[in-house]
Amino acid sequence: MKIAIFGTGYVGLVSAVCLAEKGNIVYCIDKDLQKIEMLKNGESPIYEPGLDVLLEKNRDKIFPTIEAQEAIIEADVIIIAVGTPFDGQKIDLTYISQAAIEIGKALRNSKRYRTIVVKSTVIPGTTENLVMPLILEHSQKAIDQIGFCMNPEFLREGKAIEDFNNPDRIVLGVTSKKASQQMLKLYSGFSNAVMVLTNPTSAEMIKYTANSFLALTISFSNEIARICETLTGVDSEVIFHGVALDKRISPIIDGRLIRPELTAYLKAGCGFGGSCFPKDVKALASFEKQRNVEGALLSGLIRINDSQVEHVFNMGIKNHKKKVSRIAVLGTAFKPDTDDIRESPGIKIIQLALDNNMKVNVQDYIASENTRGKFNGQIEIHKYPLDAVKNSDIVFITTAWEKYLKISDADFEANLKRDAIVVDTRSIYKKRPAKKWRIRIGVGK
Ligand code: UGA
Repeated sequence: MKIAIFGTGYVGLVSAVCLAEKGNIVYCIDKDLQKIEMLKNGESPIYEPGLDVLLEKNRDKIFPTIEAQEAIIEADVIIIAVGTPFDGQKIDLTYISQAAIEIGKALRNSKRYRTIVVKSTVIPGTTENLVMPLILEHSQKAIDQIGFCMNPEFLREGKAIEDFNNPDRIVLGVTSKKASQQMLKLYSGFSNAVMVLTNPTSAEMIKYTANSFLALTISFSNEIARICETLTGVDSEVIFHGVALDKRISPIIDGRLIRPELTAYLKAGCGFGGSCFPKDVKALASFEKQRNVEGALLSGLIRINDSQVEHVFNMGIKNHKKKVSRIAVLGTAFKPDTDDIRESPGIKIIQLALDNNMKVNVQDYIASENTRGKFNGQIEIHKYPLDAVKNSDIVFITTAWEKYLKISDADFEANLKRDAIVVDTRSIYKKRPAKKWRIRIGVGK
């Protein structure tokens, strides 16, 4: 099939390379000429493991362009994967509207049936009440001449290629049988996935609910962890272990205990970050309000998350006997295997320390450059974690980079200041006996 994709961000580009890998011809449309030039040279404008390899391998099937019209006319399926930034009150649908208008205009003189797919995360009702009317108006076509589909993505940063190629479900919110047939053809190579055929508004709601549910699990864990911290000898890890063994959560199948990946979110830490959970939960909470729905959980989970970094920061400060003048932040990526620092707990801890006139040593394996750009000379960035640790009063471990586990206790100890404290916000060292460390604080203990 021929596919045109609006937006060469994380969702658009991952979809493009994976669909090209399945044999499709893909036009990548973006207004950003620099990005298009990079893609033409086979370079990826974003970091995502495996993306550059697939980009290079499928160069003959991927056509980056700033000329939307030509690509739209060529394509059987047109995917909208542009950004939907959150301005604090609501998501901004400007790019979605612009893409819809452009698609509509380009289709005006074409008779071929095409399906327009909304892949961007948009609030419920956007496809049916904004995208469809704009495209129909500008193309001057009737609803039976164009197919529409809301097809949310469920890609984790750092594992996006793997997730695209091995989807657990493919949600297709379609407006007609013809559109669903075209979409099923597009995804015919992904045989293991369960197809959820529904309407566009339900598909939009599935996406928000999925992210809010995972975010809720994290905030719930952090709230329980705060209670555990007030109790002597109670470790939230033990509590969550005991809870997760409920056979309705971890069933025993053929004598084997199945531990669902969801239980990894049932864990105390420094809160969730990234470009999705914070934005999506806030957008849904604001939509809830707009619909006059009285709710408490969405706003509550945001409140817990917004205060968790400060909670963790204060745990370190309160436990240090002297005035804290310098901290180390190990990990500024919001999670491992990404250079994304958006809403990252590590970044928020740096800001808190700077606001309190502390000096900050920072180390990350791939997010250092993004971090440098954000703090512009206010922090000291180190290549190796132990160099960042050296003269710091408190060391916050804020990203669960596997490489941190390779640091031996002896090396860690040798580089720590005599009265330094380590706040292991990700519990990465939980398997190492704490007595070897002078003071190591875990969240939820
Ligand atoms: C999330 C969802 O997991 C994807 O399904 C969704 O498609 C994506 O948002 C999106 O809307 O685009 P992502 O933000 O990349 O993907 O990352 P996650 O791996 O889910 O991490 C989100 C937060 O949960 C992070 O702060 C991370 O530290 C935390 N997390 C993640 C945990 O606490 N435990 C885990 O086991 C995994």
